[in-house]
Amino acid sequence: MKREREALSRAPGAAGFVHVACLLLIHPGLLEGVNITSPVLLIHGTVGRPALLSVRYTSTSSDKPVVKWQLKRDKSTTVVQSIGTEIIGNLRPEYRDRIRIFENGSLLISHLQLSDEGTYEVEISITDETFTGEKHINLTVDIPISKPHVVLASSTVLELSEHFTLNCSHENGTKPSYTWLKAGQALSNDSRLLLSHDQKVLTITRVLMSDDDVYSCLVENPISSGRSLPVKLTVYSEYGCLGAGGEPVGAFTYCDKPMESRAQL
Ligand SMILES: *[C@@H]1O[C@H](CO)[C@@H](O)[C@H](O)[C@H]1NC(C)=O
Ligand SMILES: *[C@@H]1O[C@H](CO)[C@@H](O)[C@H](O)[C@H]1NC(C)=O
Ligand SMILES: *[C@@H]1O[C@H](CO)[C@@H](O)[C@H](O)[C@H]1NC(C)=O
Ligand SMILES: *[C@@H]1O[C@H](CO)[C@@H](O)[C@H](O)[C@H]1NC(C)=O
Ligand SMILES: *[C@@H]1O[C@H](CO)[C@@H](O)[C@H](O)[C@H]1NC(C)=O
Ligand SMILES: *[C@@H]1O[C@H](CO)[C@@H](O)[C@H](O)[C@H]1NC(C)=O
Repeated sequence: MKREREALSRAPGAAGFVHVACLLLIHPGLLEGVNITSPVLLIHGTVGRPALLSVRYTSTSSDKPVVKWQLKRDKSTTVVQSIGTEIIGNLRPEYRDRIRIFENGSLLISHLQLSDEGTYEVEISITDETFTGEKHINLTVDIPISKPHVVLASSTVLELSEHFTLNCSHENGTKPSYTWLKAGQALSNDSRLLLSHDQKVLTITRVLMSDDDVYSCLVENPISSGRSLPVKLTVYSEYGCLGAGGEPVGAFTYCDKPMESRAQL
């Protein structure tokens, strides 16, 4: 009985505590602590070039901060720790001569490598501050796309032939995404135009006169894009050579192989 009364009399106090906690969560600025802001949370870097993981912090203390940058993986790696701009200890071999910390806590990584890609966490703490500031920034690292070109079996094709394959090929470039353009318009999968899962290969089945057009491919990644030269696909029919709209285009002078095509049909 006495215990119950005690519990009841404590209840208002407990409620009051919850109330205060909420207030602090809603107005964290009221607490003394390091607050980190970052203008960009996703940075697209290029192999061999530098990347600035830019942050700024506010604190009521004027003491030098302890800055710690980590690369978050299954197992996190400490990239660098510093007091102010002064790096503490030795950097890991892969970061030697590539790392700089600025006064505002920002991390500059030079000569980016593909393995630098990932989520970075920065922690900034100051001795007399209660709370440590923390922020996550993502970095992608890519090789620019070199000019793609269209590889096809031949630039002429017979109407109603079974398959015709166009292959978009480029020498360099990471994370490529492909788009096929017909007369500048993006193509999508339909019953006759089949795009491979990665969209790198376009297969035209049951070729029609309406496929007679210019094709090009566009390759993009987070830092660059490249477009192939347009390739003219000429479709021959039993009746000679027709333009994209189906109208004869100086049939027998313009087309070099109409008789051969006819012979094959
Ligand atoms: C940190 O700064 C931002 C922007 O000025 C502000 O919106 C946020 O409430 C601050 N957070 C803390 C914990 O002070
Ligand atoms: C931090 O400092 C660096 C070097 O002075 C500057 O380039 C960067 O813009 C600063 N970042 C922010 C968020 O102010
Ligand atoms: C950063 O990367 C993580 C893990 O891939 C992802 O969950 C998060 O949404 C990304 N954040 C931004 C701002 O891109
Ligand atoms: C592809 O990359 C290699 C190695 O960096 C370079 O030698 C070559 O010139 C690049 N090719 C193109 C088409 O840019
Ligand atoms: C497309 O071209 C690439 C490089 O030239 C080659 O490796 C690949 O096998 C080709 N794919 C098809 C379906 O022709
Ligand atoms: C296009 O359709 C084919 C066959 O249905 C499928 O295998 C392929 O993944 C599709 N391509 C795209 C980019 O959706």
